[in-house]
Amino acid sequence: MGNCIALPAPATSFTKKRGPLPIETIFKLPSPLPSWPSGEGFALGSIDLGGLEVRQVSTFTEVWATLEGGQDNLGATFFKPSQIPEGFFMLGCYCQPNNKPLFGWVLVAKGDVDGDIGGGMLRKPVDFTLVWSSKSLKIKQDGNGYIWSPTPPQGFVAVGHMVTSSPEKPSVDEIRCVRADLADTCENDTLIWGSTGFNVYSSRPTSRGTQALGVGAGTFIAEVNGVPSPLACLKNKDSNLSCMPNLAQIQALMQAFAPWIYFHPNDAYLSSSVTWFFNNGALLYKQGDPTPTPIDPTGSNLPQGGSNDGAYWLDLPRDDGAKERVKKGDLQNSACYLQVKPILGASFTDIDIWVFYPFNGAAKAKIALVNLSLGRIGEHVGDWEHITLRISNFNGELWKVYFSEHSSGIWVNASELEFQGGNKPVAYSSLHGHAFYPKPGLVLQGSTTLGIGIRNATAKGKLSMDTGMSFQLIAAEHLGSIVVEPPWLNYARGWGPKIDYNIGQEIDKVAKVLPGKLKSALKDVVKGLPKEVLGEEGPTGPKMKRNWEGDEV
Ligand SMILES: *[C@@H]1O[C@H](CO)[C@@H](O)[C@H](O)[C@H]1NC(C)=O
Ligand SMILES: *[C@@H]1O[C@H](CO)[C@@H](O)[C@H](O)[C@H]1NC(C)=O
Ligand SMILES: *[C@@H]1O[C@H](CO)[C@@H](O)[C@H](O)[C@H]1NC(C)=O
Ligand SMILES: *[C@@H]1O[C@H](CO)[C@@H](O)[C@H](O)[C@H]1NC(C)=O
Ligand SMILES: *[C@@H]1O[C@H](CO)[C@@H](O)[C@H](O)[C@H]1NC(C)=O
Repeated sequence: MGNCIALPAPATSFTKKRGPLPIETIFKLPSPLPSWPSGEGFALGSIDLGGLEVRQVSTFTEVWATLEGGQDNLGATFFKPSQIPEGFFMLGCYCQPNNKPLFGWVLVAKGDVDGDIGGGMLRKPVDFTLVWSSKSLKIKQDGNGYIWSPTPPQGFVAVGHMVTSSPEKPSVDEIRCVRADLADTCENDTLIWGSTGFNVYSSRPTSRGTQALGVGAGTFIAEVNGVPSPLACLKNKDSNLSCMPNLAQIQALMQAFAPWIYFHPNDAYLSSSVTWFFNNGALLYKQGDPTPTPIDPTGSNLPQGGSNDGAYWLDLPRDDGAKERVKKGDLQNSACYLQVKPILGASFTDIDIWVFYPFNGAAKAKIALVNLSLGRIGEHVGDWEHITLRISNFNGELWKVYFSEHSSGIWVNASELEFQGGNKPVAYSSLHGHAFYPKPGLVLQGSTTLGIGIRNATAKGKLSMDTGMSFQLIAAEHLGSIVVEPPWLNYARGWGPKIDYNIGQEIDKVAKVLPGKLKSALKDVVKGLPKEVLGEEGPTGPKMKRNWEGDEV
């Protein structure tokens, strides 16, 4: 297979020519993982996908590297899994950008020999097709790379590609294809590297969510002139969810990975527990009824189920003193709420950590170099945000974290997170808007050319919340009746009223001081904000959000 270089070899050929690339460092979490409390199938190293046993392998042998193009123009490296456990087979190679520390895995598989129906679960490919080669490319590279697509036998599918550093076809003994009923459809995730007419993407199952069965194999998708070479993901055919963490394991996961949330030093509107909000005068309004009702501590007098039809909404207390007090939240008695759910065919666990803020303060804009308050734009009552930990059910390791930013958000790999006190990720809650960010600083949303946008400022203020000290498990369907959903969770209507100010008028007020060109730019920026931020719709609770049952988007 050409000249393979084992990582972490101290002398790869490119270290001689240049400073070390980030990928030459293998990422490790700051602290060792604890030993998890005992349970059924969680963190046992392997998962049974309906007879097909799979393991995550993250030891690799470098096959080929391109040293330019892609992220930060540093290229990407292609690896073969190494140290594959006895009896297991490789399903495909791994590829990742060079601008990040090495942090990845591919699945290797072992077929169930006894349950051999229809010729087993794994088979050698019958041949290989050369998908692409870097030979004719005038790019900085470490040797030449050849990407091969396995030709599966009838009734089987390829789950990954082979990569070699020489033009000879790889041996069919090296890799296995998977029986078609054990596979699911796959799609592009993020772009790893591209060159003229050729792109490499990480892969993920097309259908994802708590009920979806697709399992990502960690392999890459190769695309030539816009046409992907055929590739499948795996499928957890008849999972009984025994690889999901039990109650004690969930507690241990939170002890290990519970995020620290930092609030902006100027934020007047902090989080609170739901019970504090109810106990301190939050009110339930019903359409057509001028008299609101106080809410009991668990929300048991809130209407249950239905949809956000505008028939009910919550609001702050009517008394001005009480209203101002409730708006500020109560960090001392704050809580966060956990939803624990299977994802990617139960090969991972998502722990969604929900945080409630009684009030979302007004937005601020930056125009040219001037800070501008946007009047009441952005103000609304009741704000739900979340952070999601995605944890491997193979070993309990944190893989990545999702930071919600209103109706969207971003995934950040564990290798790129800020950690505090061991393996606890740090999240920054933005001033007034409470969008979560992985880093402190200013994120401008709007037109960068005009230097105009909504300011999302985050900073490491004195105030923070250790989510590990204040969480309550509100949903974990796989644990059955042990976890009781609080009544407020099944309240489907708005946690705040529709806004009572006119956005157009508010913009005109703010824009008065601006010259014409900036005025219309500001209007565009404000119109581009999600409805939820503008408060045109009262914000809804966790169960009404897409990611309650779906993947994060
Ligand atoms: C990490 O995440 C980003 C974006 O989500 C992705 O582009 C990158 O390639 C990922 N992988 C590694 C190994 O850093
Ligand atoms: C990958 O993305 C490209 C462009 O975004 C698209 O043309 C292509 O069909 C996608 N391939 C797969 C396998 O989803
Ligand atoms: C669930 O599935 C696993 C693996 O397939 C098996 O070992 C275990 O006995 C099953 N548990 C139950 C409760 O059926
Ligand atoms: C705008 O606000 C930021 C932070 O709130 C501050 O650092 C900066 O100096 C302000 N700029 C102007 C021009 O006032
Ligand atoms: C900035 O905040 C606004 C509103 O508060 C939000 O809609 C937007 O998604 C945020 N921008 C970024 C880049 O996160």
